[in-house]
Amino acid sequence: MYLGLDLGTSGLKAVVIDDEQALVASAKADLEVSRPHPGWSEQDPMSWISACEAVLAELQGSLDMAAIRGIGLSGQMHGATALDAADEVLWPSILWNDTRSAEEAAAMDADPDFRSLSGNIVFPGFTAPKVDWLRRHHPNIFEKIAKVLLPKDYLRLWLTGTYASDMSDAAGTSWLDTGARDWSNTLLAKCHLTRDQMPMLVEGSAVSGDLREDLVQRFGFSKGVVVAGGGGDNAASAIGVGVVKAGEAFVSLGTSGVLFAANDSYRPDADTAVHTFCHAVPGTWHQMGVILAATDALAWYAGLVDDDPASLTGALGDLEAPGKALFLPYLGGERTPLNDAAIRGAFLGLEHATDRHAATRAVLEGVTFALKDCQQALAATGTTLDSVIAVGGGSASDYWLAAIATALGVRIDVPVAGDLGGAFGAARLGLMAATGAGAEIATQPTMARSVEPNAALASAFEDGYGRYVAARDAIGGLA
Ligand code: XUL
Repeated sequence: MYLGLDLGTSGLKAVVIDDEQALVASAKADLEVSRPHPGWSEQDPMSWISACEAVLAELQGSLDMAAIRGIGLSGQMHGATALDAADEVLWPSILWNDTRSAEEAAAMDADPDFRSLSGNIVFPGFTAPKVDWLRRHHPNIFEKIAKVLLPKDYLRLWLTGTYASDMSDAAGTSWLDTGARDWSNTLLAKCHLTRDQMPMLVEGSAVSGDLREDLVQRFGFSKGVVVAGGGGDNAASAIGVGVVKAGEAFVSLGTSGVLFAANDSYRPDADTAVHTFCHAVPGTWHQMGVILAATDALAWYAGLVDDDPASLTGALGDLEAPGKALFLPYLGGERTPLNDAAIRGAFLGLEHATDRHAATRAVLEGVTFALKDCQQALAATGTTLDSVIAVGGGSASDYWLAAIATALGVRIDVPVAGDLGGAFGAARLGLMAATGAGAEIATQPTMARSVEPNAALASAFEDGYGRYVAARDAIGGLA
């Protein structure tokens, strides 16, 4: 059996699969995000360890842990977890959706070496500008940094005692030479850092270390359980739904929203604000458009009207044409295509008739149009999509999927097993590391159904997207 651990933003999810990749067990523990100032988003790395202890204890109660041979890790990307020489956490982990380091990011991005070597804009959410924020605002902390780890790699340190990262997650730091799949000494030096402060790099499907002896004893594992490099949550999700070869793609409706396309070569085009990262298996890369709030926007609205997201979306019937109410989902700034940390969301076109139902639809449509923006950005790089696989918690809403299929004009395939997310892909990477299998085992799941674009509503969604584009351009300077 193989265990996948996905350290998400809202929770840590574990799945266990058998040798035939059938799901054996799963467990989840919730996580909180702390927002002490506007634009900040942090987590206590100790809460990741507690969540991991909780899911391992839960799994131990339901299966024979001794049968697990490999563990794979998936995780929220970009978070800066700074450790001192004794591995003490120096500052709460600064997460992917934190935009405090907009100034530092802009200064780095103005140096052409960052785009040319990393293949990406230096977004404020990426790791390097956050560490530079520490350098500028808390030099005493910066001086003590012995290692900078990404969230899942901090969990790996607890699991194995090894400092390691994988290529897909490392590509989101702005320190990786993404084409060469190696840390860039040039970019590190520009950030007053050295290679010694970085974890070693392994491919996602390779072994990064063995499970620590005390954890083997405590949770009933056998000796010699290997921990795979794993992947950033998007690359790991792609492994989970078999999006590995050029032409294969998924849409993820998680806390963030992602339109992800696998590539057979390195195809950076930073100016489009498309992210170009290594994939979690050797010799492959991927591109993606990333929006910062997908289910996060729906959860925000649900909190506002004191309801829960599932009941709000469950109350919607068949897809309708976008109404007057228009929502822009920029609750914490936006990445693709705007690269604007300061922009904020908006509700427009409200009228007396705007009720809970209409406002819910507006929120789903706003996120949908933001994903259409990502599709346009990918198209500008030459990457077009015929169909996409749905992943993430938001894909439980048929209404949302129908809106996205119609706005993007692509078929959406919905896997039978529902929201497997990065944990299943991580388990597959654990299997690869333990057995030496390759990307060929990352097959596509059986699909429960396909959601086709609604031809009758295509032009209404085209008009809705036109209003969205006009509105986002108009509010740009208002934050
Ligand atoms: C990707 C990104 C998000 C996080 C969410 O660049 O920032 O998708 O990985 O966990």
